[in-house]
Amino acid sequence: MRQLTKLLMLPALALTASSALADEGMWQPNQLPTIAKQLTKAGLKLNPNDLTDLTGFPMGAIVSLGGCTASFVSDQGLVASNHHCVYGSVQYNSTAENNLLKNGFLAKSFDEELPATPGSRIYVTEEITEVTPLVNAGITEGMNGSERYKAIDTNSKTLVAECENDDRYRCSVVNFHGGLEYYLFKQLTIRDVRLVHAPASSIGKYGGDVDNWMWPRHTGDYGFYRAYVGKDGQPADFSKDNVPYKPKHHLKVNKSSVDDGDYIMVLGYPGRTNRYRTAYEVENTFTWTYPNAKAYREEIIDLIHTHSEEGSEARIKYESTLAGLANYAKNYGSMIHSYNKGTFLERKQTLEKKLTQWLQSDKKRQAKYGEALSGLNKLIKIDDQQQARDLILGYMRYNKMLSTATSLHRLAVENEKPNIERERGYQERDLARFEQGMKSVDRRYDETIDKEILIAMLTHYVALPKEERIKSFDKFFGLSKTTAKNFNEKKLRKTLEKMYKKTQLNSQEQRLALMNKPLSDFEKSKDPFIKLAVASFKERKAIEDTSKELAGNIQAYRPKYMEALIAYFNDNNLPVYADANSTLRITYGNVKGYSPQDGLTATPYTTLEGIVAKDTGIAPFDAPKKQLELINNKQYGEYAKKAIGSVPVNYLGTLDITGGNSGSPTLNDKAEFVGLVFDGVYESIIGDWDYDKKLNRSIHVDVRYMLWVMEHVDGATNLIEEMDIVE
Ligand code: ARG
Repeated sequence: MRQLTKLLMLPALALTASSALADEGMWQPNQLPTIAKQLTKAGLKLNPNDLTDLTGFPMGAIVSLGGCTASFVSDQGLVASNHHCVYGSVQYNSTAENNLLKNGFLAKSFDEELPATPGSRIYVTEEITEVTPLVNAGITEGMNGSERYKAIDTNSKTLVAECENDDRYRCSVVNFHGGLEYYLFKQLTIRDVRLVHAPASSIGKYGGDVDNWMWPRHTGDYGFYRAYVGKDGQPADFSKDNVPYKPKHHLKVNKSSVDDGDYIMVLGYPGRTNRYRTAYEVENTFTWTYPNAKAYREEIIDLIHTHSEEGSEARIKYESTLAGLANYAKNYGSMIHSYNKGTFLERKQTLEKKLTQWLQSDKKRQAKYGEALSGLNKLIKIDDQQQARDLILGYMRYNKMLSTATSLHRLAVENEKPNIERERGYQERDLARFEQGMKSVDRRYDETIDKEILIAMLTHYVALPKEERIKSFDKFFGLSKTTAKNFNEKKLRKTLEKMYKKTQLNSQEQRLALMNKPLSDFEKSKDPFIKLAVASFKERKAIEDTSKELAGNIQAYRPKYMEALIAYFNDNNLPVYADANSTLRITYGNVKGYSPQDGLTATPYTTLEGIVAKDTGIAPFDAPKKQLELINNKQYGEYAKKAIGSVPVNYLGTLDITGGNSGSPTLNDKAEFVGLVFDGVYESIIGDWDYDKKLNRSIHVDVRYMLWVMEHVDGATNLIEEMDIVE
């Protein structure tokens, strides 16, 4: 066991890596030298140090879509990701007459490519710099929560503004280990993104939400974008004259794929994990937050289903929203299930007991960290007092008219301040995206559904105790004396009918015009949703300020708690790596099956025949006829795999991934593209909090299935020719 190495660039983390933990861990690129031996031992054929070079191969070929990962797979800026990652763009370009979701889309030439959803971006990380002292500059022990929050916020914004002086870049300051460390990320940002290809949903989303998060799986979850830049090779807004981006590096596609037991790795942008939360946070999240959030999601899904017919214009507008709602409703369901039958909470409590004993056994440690856990929990509990209201208000944002009104009004409020002091999301750097968001409402909004969502959430809202209600809200809707018991839905419906009739926020022109209006115009506005936004602003702002103050207070404890925990883990030779935070990470392991339950073994591959076996002809098990015929005739082309006697469709890996890793290329030992990671198995979902080596499995689309469908079903030969395919 090594001692903690106090290198400035790798604080606290150097040791982690030494406790050889294959599979578990989402490693930061700068940590790779410390796990070089393990990587080589696991089978990596490249020099592990090469992976630390962000602009070299292969890192330079890995990009973020913001929420998903992707990679360059040609020298013409072709980008491969998941079907569910390009789904929003397919939905955006779909109408009832031209339903690309249903039929799929293929641009046979560059000029047939379609603009992706407005606001789509491709981010290429070029620099990562540790900035902890700069973010913490000026912070003193005596500061209250608001002051601390403000100091961190202002320092971060200043760093971002300096970094973005070059407007080709988007920069962000991200906290690691709950604020123990901060890093500045500098990303080249490509703003002209086009949809190139997506298979039909009956391939790309085969199995739908029934199979989602499950194995065995038969989903062709892939799709392609292309990155465009100005003629000078620099990022530019969409223009017909733009040209395909020529990335310095792109991945070769290895059509032999991988075999059972082979080394694989994923470089990507995992979103969020919570492996170092307190027992209190665990219990509250699993027994309160997840069950309630799941119920709200399911309720909204039902509403959309009830008020739109499959294939109708209204339904198409909500398909992307539906997929997102359903994805996490099921995700929470699995976590609740695993939590209830497992021992996660007990183990957390035991860990905290041991940590406390370990701290108490050393006077210095006790003096430094003794209060960290109790102090942290006390604050989190305060924050949770309003969680019922906050969750309802959160899900109320699925209502477009209200969220549009509050955002536009807030923009006017922020515009009164100097740019650097404006709230995140409302600075000059955010305006292009803001505008694109305002535009996309057209393709994501239906009045009836919007109204139903608001009624549903207000119905929950009136059940809140008096002290959690927002008075201006109550007054506006005439709900001041309303409780769950005397709630009159009919009356509320009438009020809403009038509001929807009168509002003009459903017009894109109006929304865009309001982006440039001064605050005084909002205050005079007759638009009912804007009136509501104006009337409730003071109260909503007070809620926000309170939560910032708490966040600032928590910042006085969380980093300290993490420091204590890391020291304890290191002392006990347990692994520590930073929780996922949407930044670039590496995870490695092998192709491998698993045993989900006593008596069951899952093999690592599924095959084409499995598609036929599952098919019922009814969505989501309605593979295209042509595909079924090809399978029944065993027309595998050159993509069959001897060991399984068919074309492999999906495979299992041991990689430690989470949402955000979606679309990451799965790489072999030479960093060649052998598939795409797109999901995790049901039993591993709780791994975001509680990693279990035995149950943790990632699900990948096999490159051979992709190529087989592209060549034999969709005729996407232009793309196959464009990629560098090797064996
Ligand atoms: N479970 C996948 C993920 O979170 C998303 C799959 C989307 N498909 C769906 N049927 N909703 O990465």
